[in-house]
Amino acid sequence: MATYVVVGLQYGDEGKGKITDVLSAKSDYVVRYQGGDNAGHTVYVGEEKFVLHLLPSGVLQCKGKCIIANGVVVNPKSFMREIAQIEEKGMRTDHVFISRRAHVIMPYHILLDTYREEEEGGTQIGTTKKGIGPCYEDKIARVGIRMIDLLNPEVLAEKIKKNLKTKNSLFEKYFEKPGLEFQEIYEEFLAIGEKLKDRIVDTEVELNQAIHEGKNILFEGAQALMLDIDFGTYPFVTSSSPSTGGVCTGAGVPPTSLQNLIGVAKAYTTRVGNGPFPTELDDELGEKIRKIGFEFGATTGRPRRTGWLDLVSLKHATMINGINNLVITKLDVLSGISPLKIATGYKTEDGKIIDYFTSSTTKLYNYEPQYEELEGWDEDITKVRSYDELPPNAKKYIEFIEKYLGINVYLVSVGPERSQNIIRKELF
Ligand code: GDP
Ligand code: IMO
Ligand code: MG
Repeated sequence: MATYVVVGLQYGDEGKGKITDVLSAKSDYVVRYQGGDNAGHTVYVGEEKFVLHLLPSGVLQCKGKCIIANGVVVNPKSFMREIAQIEEKGMRTDHVFISRRAHVIMPYHILLDTYREEEEGGTQIGTTKKGIGPCYEDKIARVGIRMIDLLNPEVLAEKIKKNLKTKNSLFEKYFEKPGLEFQEIYEEFLAIGEKLKDRIVDTEVELNQAIHEGKNILFEGAQALMLDIDFGTYPFVTSSSPSTGGVCTGAGVPPTSLQNLIGVAKAYTTRVGNGPFPTELDDELGEKIRKIGFEFGATTGRPRRTGWLDLVSLKHATMINGINNLVITKLDVLSGISPLKIATGYKTEDGKIIDYFTSSTTKLYNYEPQYEELEGWDEDITKVRSYDELPPNAKKYIEFIEKYLGINVYLVSVGPERSQNIIRKELF
């Protein structure tokens, strides 16, 4: 049995796609277990750039199967678009499958997400407007449409009709927008089912069998712990559980089967979308990091907010996830910046210093991060491939993180390309 889970520890975009791609070369299965096409996972193969939203990043290198498991919300149109893009580049996609239990993102989910975000006086989360929240709402409300329903014309018709009744009433009466027509949606989604039918399968039995056979299985998280529906900065979160715990419900595998829990964090912090961000740098240095790190959203193109590394939130994330292997990405971006600051505590409104992440999102806006200063380095480290060759101050930075969190950094990423890694310990 060899299972690997790759999760984000900050606010998303830590470089999970790149790490999944690296690990997937030796995986028999690569599995997405939550989220949907709100994700944007970038992989560079030489000069060529791939951005994967819904397909597991393993699609490029995995010789086994790529699975979109039950916990994912699937926009089948995005799925087909991505499949076509990969095939256009001459690569295979016949190894990609979707769980019959996965819920389908319907056009009314996308509209609802968009109208809410554009509503005056509403809570603007800054979502990706991909319909993620409304689709998960329907799943929990037990009115959702699952991939399996696309294969049954009567069930599909009944479910769409029922949903349109309530959704159209909301669109017309509350948002004062036009409602949607049944026939067009029904025909479109029935045709999608027909097109995808060979890829819509039961995935949980096969995955459990593979675990028992000792196959290498890699679970690829999307989003990150600070966007987790329970443990993130609610309500400025996504609607799923991007934690390692989410793997069990999102793929139907038992907690006892999860072994290597790999947490990915950037050497600094970024956030796209709204919500508190205690270590945010709303100044020239923040702009410099955005430029050097090319911090623009892979899904929406929005500029990412940037800031110092926040060990208080990272400790929260590693605790909830039970991380036993850390990956630090984008260390190269910090070359030339000195001193470097790392938050190790927050000062509360009444002057108390705390080192844990609070559940009160509103209070977070007023907390003052307490920083340790470390000396930076000037060297370009993008060509470094062994830990010993790193500048001493870069090593001190990594070791400061390890000491605070009590977890070893097994891989340091020093550039976007697949090969730009310092691997300190082979996991496979
Ligand atoms: P994900 O959502 O966690 O997969 O991350 P994204 O792909 O959205 O964002 C990470 C960005 O950083 C992408 O543009 C990557 O190509 C890039 N990247 C990943 N690792 C490194 C690194 O070590 N150095 C640099 N400079 N860029 C990196
Ligand atoms: P990857 O997998 C960064 C953010 C959105 C918004 C909030 C809710 O690439 O790390 P949603 O559309 O999910 O309802 O939006 O979550 N968000 C992400 N931020 N990376 C992502 O994915 C994200 N997916 C969602 O910007 O703040
Ligand atoms: Mg991303």
